[in-house]
Amino acid sequence: MSGESKNNSKTNRRALDSIHKTRPKVLLGVSGGIAAYKAVDLASKLTAAGAGVKTVMTENACRFVGPKSFEAVTGSPVFTSLWTKSEEYRIKHVNLVDWADIVVLAPATANIIAKITNGICDDLLSATFCVCWQKPTLLAPAMNGNMWHNPAVQRNVERAREMGFNLIGPTKGRLANGAIAEGRMSEPQDILEAVEKLASKIKKSG
Ligand SMILES: Cc1cc2nc3c(=O)[nH]c(=O)nc-3n(C[C@H](O)[C@H](O)[C@H](O)COP(=O)(O)O)c2cc1C
Repeated sequence: MSGESKNNSKTNRRALDSIHKTRPKVLLGVSGGIAAYKAVDLASKLTAAGAGVKTVMTENACRFVGPKSFEAVTGSPVFTSLWTKSEEYRIKHVNLVDWADIVVLAPATANIIAKITNGICDDLLSATFCVCWQKPTLLAPAMNGNMWHNPAVQRNVERAREMGFNLIGPTKGRLANGAIAEGRMSEPQDILEAVEKLASKIKKSG
């Protein structure tokens, strides 16, 4: 095993141990970007580490990956609409936020970032973010490099920071179109570790 992979596996174990102890309830929001498939891995890693995970997907996220995948890896129902009946939650965007300790948005599209920083709440995920802005949150933007550097997107990202949302990434790397640019979603393992840090802070102040 190389030095780097030894260090990685140590960090992995630390993140797993800590999430296992704190068992945070994580509301995972998934928006419609190509990196949505990686969010299944994130949901799986969070669940394996001991977090409770409920997933909210946008309609466009469901075009990239099926809700069943999240349901299967988390063992929990997946919510996709403000309007469908749910046995578990009557007013979903409010009750799901009440349930959650931490709200994660991965991937965060340019579109959802624009919505949540401008108070637009026209679907379940954006309405959820309109409610949860005072909770510990983590956004993992992912998009084409030109989109990421677009001044309007950068303005919204800056506003997200000002509003108190935590951000991770994006990183520079190979994007869906084959280009190497900034816009790649942070790896699920890195997001897991960022969630672990938020979870340990909740524990301290709780
Ligand atoms: C193949 C494909 C890949 C896309 N990838 C991304 C992406 O990585 N990031 C992004 O911000 N938008 C991406 N888009 C555009 C979004 O899907 C679009 O802006 C959509 O309205 C986002 O909806 P949502 O934020 O409600 O999920 C992609 C679109 C297509 C067709």
